[in-house]
Amino acid sequence: MLSQTNPKKIVVFTGAGISAESGLQTFRDSDGLWNNYQLEEVATPKAWAIHPEVVLAFYNERRKQAFEAQPNAAHKAVAKLEEQYEVIVITQNVDDLHERAGSTQVIHVHGELKYARSSKYDSPLFLYDKGKAIQFGDICDNGSQLRPHIVWFGEHIHHYELSKKHLETASKILVVGTSLLVYPAAHILEGASIDAEKIIVTQQLDKTPPGYELRKGNAAALVPNIVDGWLNNGKAAI
Ligand code: OAD
Repeated sequence: MLSQTNPKKIVVFTGAGISAESGLQTFRDSDGLWNNYQLEEVATPKAWAIHPEVVLAFYNERRKQAFEAQPNAAHKAVAKLEEQYEVIVITQNVDDLHERAGSTQVIHVHGELKYARSSKYDSPLFLYDKGKAIQFGDICDNGSQLRPHIVWFGEHIHHYELSKKHLETASKILVVGTSLLVYPAAHILEGASIDAEKIIVTQQLDKTPPGYELRKGNAAALVPNIVDGWLNNGKAAI
């Protein structure tokens, strides 16, 4: 079968590790959020039904921290790729550090902290930027409490088919800072072309998907090197 990849298209697929050096906690590292919180207590529809105040407090803290954080060298390097490539960032992250670093095409598959929405309907979205808290009692026109625009466990991932399509046509794929333990998000990577150059940068990975080259280390150190190589001669520097 002829390759359908576009030589000037890169997909960058990211997780919490790319924002770790901006000071935001990951989920599953030893100091990660899911070691300090029970995810069932704060990140499920059931938790929202039982104690919405607890869920709001958890995400209000995340929103405040994300607002105070700054993009690091890895986010900035990803944005720089747009000088020569069409770059689609597919992120599991709910912060907006990719956008603030300058990336213009960012797909959030697990939602975004800076939006709230009705607890009854998927839209419209209400901007809660600059770290603003969603209060218990903040309601929308239909009278329902506003909730974080976040994909909780048991809910549907966003933009899944669109993300898979982008994977299929990219000639270079860079995965950064994810344990690849959460599905269906991790399934998105399976759609990559066999011909595509595929690199994963992360500190720790239990299982490397077939066809991907694993480079263990810190995103802020390794990603700028790879990007420089792709910008200088189309080859990822070792
Ligand atoms: P995890 O916490 O599962 O994984 C973070 C990954 O980043 C691990 O592989 C770490 O080794 C790596 N890492 C940590 N610091 C790093 C650094 N400075 N440079 C490079 N890599 C580093 O986070 P995710 O894979 O993003 O979903 O988790 C996926 C989903 O699980 C999240 O989107 C969230 C969570 O529950 C929802 O809340 C729906």
